[in-house]
Amino acid sequence: MTTANVGTERGAATREQYERNVNPQWAHLLRLLEMDAEYTRCEGGTLETADGRRIDDFLSGYCVYNTGHNHPAIVSALHRELDANGPQMLQSHLSATAAELAVRLLRLADHSGSGHLSKVYFSSSGAEGVETAIKFARAHTGRGGLLAARGAFHGLTCGALALMDAPFWREGFGELIPGVEFVDFGDVEQLERALETGRFAALILEPIQGEAGIVLPPQGYLERAQALCRKYETVFVLDEVQTGLGRTGAMLAAHHWGLRPDMVILAKALSGGLVPVGAVLMTEAIYESVYPSLRRAIVHTSTYSENGLAMRAGVATLEVIEDEGLAERALRLGEWFRGRLRNRLAGYEMVRAVRGMGLFSGIEFCAPRSMTLRLSYEAFARVHPAMFGQMLVMRLYREHGILTQICGNNFLVLKATPPLVVDEESLERFVEAMAETMESIHSSRSFWTDALRLVARAVRI
Ligand SMILES: Cc1ncc(COP(=O)(O)O)c(C=O)c1O
Repeated sequence: MTTANVGTERGAATREQYERNVNPQWAHLLRLLEMDAEYTRCEGGTLETADGRRIDDFLSGYCVYNTGHNHPAIVSALHRELDANGPQMLQSHLSATAAELAVRLLRLADHSGSGHLSKVYFSSSGAEGVETAIKFARAHTGRGGLLAARGAFHGLTCGALALMDAPFWREGFGELIPGVEFVDFGDVEQLERALETGRFAALILEPIQGEAGIVLPPQGYLERAQALCRKYETVFVLDEVQTGLGRTGAMLAAHHWGLRPDMVILAKALSGGLVPVGAVLMTEAIYESVYPSLRRAIVHTSTYSENGLAMRAGVATLEVIEDEGLAERALRLGEWFRGRLRNRLAGYEMVRAVRGMGLFSGIEFCAPRSMTLRLSYEAFARVHPAMFGQMLVMRLYREHGILTQICGNNFLVLKATPPLVVDEESLERFVEAMAETMESIHSSRSFWTDALRLVARAVRI
């Protein structure tokens, strides 16, 4: 595997323009991590670079590529949509594709056949979906308070960001929206104490916390949370922006626990990785409280909501997920994959746990106990708490051609979230790459010498 990013003239021009007019710090960070490749072709779970490398994608654009990169059926559905020259954003018609997508989404979400979710609001991102949930829950209950879990990630607009307690994301942005309080994910007693005050319009949870470190709910927690929300007339909202659409081995993660949330937020994978689209599924009663009369028919909307290409991408993506049985595939492969990882990584003192559901997996590391390892680990942790994780990410990319990341709110958890179309050979390659990387951490100096070089480069850049 080459270490230098050779790149082309076009790549160099892109870098120069991007640094000048978009985000220079992001460009610097990618260069520092030697991950500033020029990608030329992305298909399924594989990315090709201009300098001839083949990368296995284990990040999936943070769970965007459930159907893989550039799925041919979704791409051709979009071509057909464009060729039809139909209405895409008239803003004064009823979108047939929006209706079709809503019907499909509601059918797939309705695991129990109860029909309790009957309305959809379309957004263009996950954060916009979260904003929608906040407004609708407030309108429905007449309450202002919002309850969220510590460690959560819900997006970076003001309302969504207010539901996140991690200072890193909030710092410098002033007052966000009022009325937000936090509880520990998994603590039923804390939750009941908060809900019984009657102050909260909504409890908003990721069923499996993603950026907090692929944190699974303790047994019975989500069911109790739902029951408590019913008892205290609080809207029970599940943010399935990462966990939805087959990722965890079910169409919604909620299905694993037989939940019936009042609202479900989807985005990311619904786009097929091609056209931004999100959806908020909800009960009739909640919808009605925002649009009760003709006068308020468009009181909550957005220009790109129901955009024709976005709706088409959503319909085609759901078709692929269903036709290819991607949720079932994720369930089966995910169990096997985590079993293989546990097996190969057993005995390495820095590996604390391998956990997840479907193809939503995390490998958690811990500070080493043995003296020699501890000295190196602590020295780098002092430079930056994410240093160890970023070194792992960099090594996996450079030495093994694997793209992944650490969790945004837990730097000691490495994500393994490949497209759901991933093959067993790629999963096996990941397992072996992890085992080799762990070996280099635990029994050679090469990992730590590399870390030193990274620090030196960081100082130079
Ligand atoms: C659970 C969750 N909710 C919401 C969001 C926000 O989605 P978006 O980036 O599309 O605004 C994210 C983004 O990573 C997410 O992981």
